[in-house]
Amino acid sequence: MGKILMVYASLSGNTEIVTDIIEGNLQQLGHEVVVKSFDFDVIEMDELADYDAVLVGTYTWDDGELPYEAEDFYIELEHADIEGKIFGAYGSADSFYDTFGLAIDLMADRARNLGADVLDERLKIDLMPEADDEERCANYAKKISQMIAGKNKVSA
Ligand SMILES: Cc1cc2nc3c(=O)[nH]c(=O)nc-3n(C[C@H](O)[C@H](O)[C@H](O)COP(=O)(O)O)c2cc1C
Repeated sequence: MGKILMVYASLSGNTEIVTDIIEGNLQQLGHEVVVKSFDFDVIEMDELADYDAVLVGTYTWDDGELPYEAEDFYIELEHADIEGKIFGAYGSADSFYDTFGLAIDLMADRARNLGADVLDERLKIDLMPEADDEERCANYAKKISQMIAGKNKVSA
C-alpha cells in the first residue's frame, strides 16, 4: 500500500473525471490518495517526498502546450528531488489535433529526464472518458500499484 499524490489541471472537466476514476481505482487497491488541483492548491516541491507516487493529470492546450496553471509545477520540477520517484502522466485531450495529448508527454518526459521512474504508459483519454476508457484507467491504476509494490519489496 502506498501514499499517492494526484495533481491535475482541467478546464472543462474531462481530466477531472479521469482523475476521479483513477483515484477510485487506486483506493480500491488499498492506497491512500491525495488529490490536488493546479487551480486551487499550492503544490510545494518538498512535499513530493511524502508520496510513494506522483501522478500528474493535464489537458493539452494551444497547439500541444501545457495549460498555464500547470506551468509553474513543470518549471519547479527541475528543482525537486524526484530521482527514483514513481511518476505518471495522464489526461484528456482531443484526437482531432495532430498534437494529441502532447502536454502529457511534456510532463512525462521532464520527469524521466530528472530521473523519476516514469510509467511507460501515458494515458491519453479522447475527450470525455467512455466505458472502455474506464477499463484503461483501471489498468493504469493497477500498473502504478504494481510499481509501488515492486519498490516496497526491494526496500523491505
Ligand atoms: C483552444 C483549444 C486548444 C486545444 N489544443 C489541443 C491540442 O493542441 N492538442 C490536444 O490533444 N487537445 C487540444 N485541445 C483539446 C482539449 O485538450 C480537450 O478538450 C480536453 O478534453 C480538455 O480537457 P479538460 O476537460 O480536462 O479541460 C484544445 C482545446 C481547446 C479549446
